Amino acid sequence: MKKGTRRVLAMCLACLLVIGGMFFPVAKTAQAVDVVNVGTNAEFPPFEYINDDGEPDGFDMAIIKAIGEVEGFDVKITNMEFKSLVASLATGSLDAVIAGMTVTDERKQSVDFSDSYYTAVQCIVIRKEDADEITCLADLNGKKIAVQEGTTGDILCTPGEDNDVITDENTTVQRFKKGTDAIVTLNNGGVDAVVIDQNPAENFVANNADTLTLMEDDTSTEEYAIAVQKGNTELLEKINEGLAKIKEDGTFDKLVEEYINDNATEETTEKGFFANLKYVFVDTNGYQLMLKGLGVTIGISVCAGILGVILGFILALMKLTETRKKRKTVLSRIAGIYIDIIRGTPSMVQLLIMFMVIFRSRYAVLAAILSFGINSAAYVAENIRAGILAVDVGQMEGGRSLGFTYGETMRYIIMPQAIKNVIPALGNEMITLVKETSIVGYVAIVDLTKAGDFIVSRTYQAFLPLIAVAIVYYILIKIMTWALAVIERRLRQSDNR
Ligand code: ARG
Repeated sequence: MKKGTRRVLAMCLACLLVIGGMFFPVAKTAQAVDVVNVGTNAEFPPFEYINDDGEPDGFDMAIIKAIGEVEGFDVKITNMEFKSLVASLATGSLDAVIAGMTVTDERKQSVDFSDSYYTAVQCIVIRKEDADEITCLADLNGKKIAVQEGTTGDILCTPGEDNDVITDENTTVQRFKKGTDAIVTLNNGGVDAVVIDQNPAENFVANNADTLTLMEDDTSTEEYAIAVQKGNTELLEKINEGLAKIKEDGTFDKLVEEYINDNATEETTEKGFFANLKYVFVDTNGYQLMLKGLGVTIGISVCAGILGVILGFILALMKLTETRKKRKTVLSRIAGIYIDIIRGTPSMVQLLIMFMVIFRSRYAVLAAILSFGINSAAYVAENIRAGILAVDVGQMEGGRSLGFTYGETMRYIIMPQAIKNVIPALGNEMITLVKETSIVGYVAIVDLTKAGDFIVSRTYQAFLPLIAVAIVYYILIKIMTWALAVIERRLRQSDNR
């Protein structure tokens, strides 16, 4: 084997080892004994919501922590989409779910439920001006209804065989990932009603007292319980025992007082533009969430960018073996397949596969860095390869006739010139990368975009937070573009064009 090829192979091996090493902790810590991985969907106040520090908080979180305390286990909370919770329990990436989750026969097929800890009903939230027209659930037939995806409200409103209230097939049901998005849509006039559990409904209406009102239909009551994996009786017994203990010692009632009864939300009054600006970004700590999110966006982009450039460089060299040998080589084939697959699939899907399949819903940030790095490498590889090929062939011939080896000519003559060709394209790739990371919210990472999303949830306002997020990205990209121009100018200084 030629020296160059050997070196490329060694580099690939090293990379594989590094990446393999990153996976190792997943296998090791998955079985930790006294940490219980609890999933929730922090979009359901007062049971669960994101607090001022950007952490999941609320009645449910307090309950499960109190149970953990009396039963001697630590609780690790993962915030995810409501409709993914049951599936995550089944695959084992969660040990328990506490999310204001109603016990239903259907869910009982896939999970086991603890004793019930709360009784609730479904409510209809409507705009004040529609209060005469919509007075019960049946009035929603043929209307546009918004629900949170996969909840009992969703089931109640979806026309189907065993739905004897909403029977009109033309009823439109819009399913949102978050209850607040449904409420914002109702406020904007996009739907006629939101059907959701009573406590969050009350909370949402209190926060939108000028525009919204609440309707109670006497739908049957629902029982909330904690879910565990089917057959995990050990944990289930602990939870039931802990629940009984905290009910007996008064902790439970204290938490009901604190989180549910005292949940006085400030009345909204019309605010002027600047007062509103202050409310959205300062009073509710929005700017801190955004700053934290910006840090995460930058962190993930930088790490993924570095990984992308290193991997991309290796891939480019692998592909170039083909140009050198004037026939396909094993290395160029491998690199070709890699680039082909990565470029042929959406980065969103790659991210979900990395996080849910490979990392089993753990180490989200690491999964995101790897996923974006691997994705970026495919594009970087082509940029670098094109940059190297753009260097005149005479340069290689010149180098070789001076007695340099292929590797030396590459290193001392071709690469320095190739870098100039590559920098603009590489810069573009980095800019794309920063913007692409805005999908990490899907794997429960709070980046800049997700921070904006949280502010929408907390303030029920979409305009200011989203525009602010856009402006911050814009500034970030502007700075990158400017830095790139400076670098490029420096590199071109020695050119006599
Ligand atoms: N109780 C309803 C259900 O179980 C809604 C729960 C929604 N919970 C949440 N954390 N988003 O379907």
